[in-house]
Amino acid sequence: MSEIELIATATFGLEAVVKRELQNLGYTDINVSDGKVSFRADEKAIPRANLWLRSADRLLLKMGEFKALTFDELFEKTKALPWDDWITRDAKFTVNGKSVKSKLFSISDCQSIVKKAVVEKLKQRYAADWFEETGPESTIQVALLNDIATLTINTSGAGLHKRGYREAAGEAPLKETLAAAMIQLSYWNKDRILLDPFCGSGTIPIEAAMISRNIAPGLNRKFASEEWPIIDKNLWKEARVEAYNAIDQDTPISILASDIDHKAIAIAAENALQAGVDDCIEFSVKPLVQVKTEEKFGVVITNPPYGERIGSRKEIADIYQAMGRIFRADPTWSVYVLTPQENFESLYGTKAHRKRKLYNGNIKVDFYQYYGERPPKK
Ligand SMILES: C[S@@+](CC[C@H](N)C(=O)[O-])C[C@H]1O[C@@H](n2cnc3c(N)ncnc32)[C@H](O)[C@@H]1O
Repeated sequence: MSEIELIATATFGLEAVVKRELQNLGYTDINVSDGKVSFRADEKAIPRANLWLRSADRLLLKMGEFKALTFDELFEKTKALPWDDWITRDAKFTVNGKSVKSKLFSISDCQSIVKKAVVEKLKQRYAADWFEETGPESTIQVALLNDIATLTINTSGAGLHKRGYREAAGEAPLKETLAAAMIQLSYWNKDRILLDPFCGSGTIPIEAAMISRNIAPGLNRKFASEEWPIIDKNLWKEARVEAYNAIDQDTPISILASDIDHKAIAIAAENALQAGVDDCIEFSVKPLVQVKTEEKFGVVITNPPYGERIGSRKEIADIYQAMGRIFRADPTWSVYVLTPQENFESLYGTKAHRKRKLYNGNIKVDFYQYYGERPPKK
């Protein structure tokens, strides 16, 4: 099997988490830059990384990278790439693009040049003038940054946050990829109790349960490259079998999830059922102020309301102050909170041990981390 280069795209701030996920999958030749984690592997990595990556947005197959200052240059250098190794005669392919700080700034022109160049390549290979485009889908991306064009094919299709379990979502749901990253950035593990007192549609508890059961996040969905005839179907089969066999059904897991809104809890419970982790999570309808647990060394990971509605500032301040009163009472608990609230620490009542800048969609947020006492070694 020949070597290929893949790019796992990631939201700003999550590159290191994605790198660690790839290392856990056994990949070593990894390069990190803004929003991209590139690695070299063989074709088997396409099914494996798509099935297992929890915090990456998409997995792209890198076709080439070159300097392009003119449309001619873009056309010729694109045409020289081995598109015919990956795109079949009947493939339906679209091109999307982006351009940052580059001479070729017209995205629509770049897209049509790249499409023409790929068609030319296919015409040569298949000695044909016309392609039906009735077959499997491939989305090509031309991304220009500082005059360097990177050409990729999207192997995932829909974003990897689409796991297939969350048909319904409440207000302001968190992306599954971000929830998985928050958990992996914390010191929580399956021996400790986890609590999300603002669980909404259940994303954080469900992702945590899937991590502790070692359930591959992509097991419930399809990927664009699964349809590509070029990739041996057995590779997908083997990767899925490997993932099924890896599931840990037995370890007891204790996750508490609550929310003030009974509709959100009904949705969260349904989502947990769809994800196959309903037995790991205890859901309840309750306001934060009623959240209580006698357990020690627990971990709170949560995404509280942000208070975007007019007039809700006082309400939000009250909630954040109540969080401080409740969770600071027991020094064995660790608390992780994702919020854009700049004075969060003063409302909560103490400075976080660590603060990490992240993005929740377009909203700039901080991930406040309060480390409680460590549990005794077993
Ligand atoms: C930002 S959303 C959480 C979204 C969730 N992470 C998800 O992925 O769906 C905040 C949640 O806090 C809940 N909430 C608001 N005030 C609350 C309170 N006082 N006590 C408990 N839950 C509350 C809302 O119902 C909402 O579901």
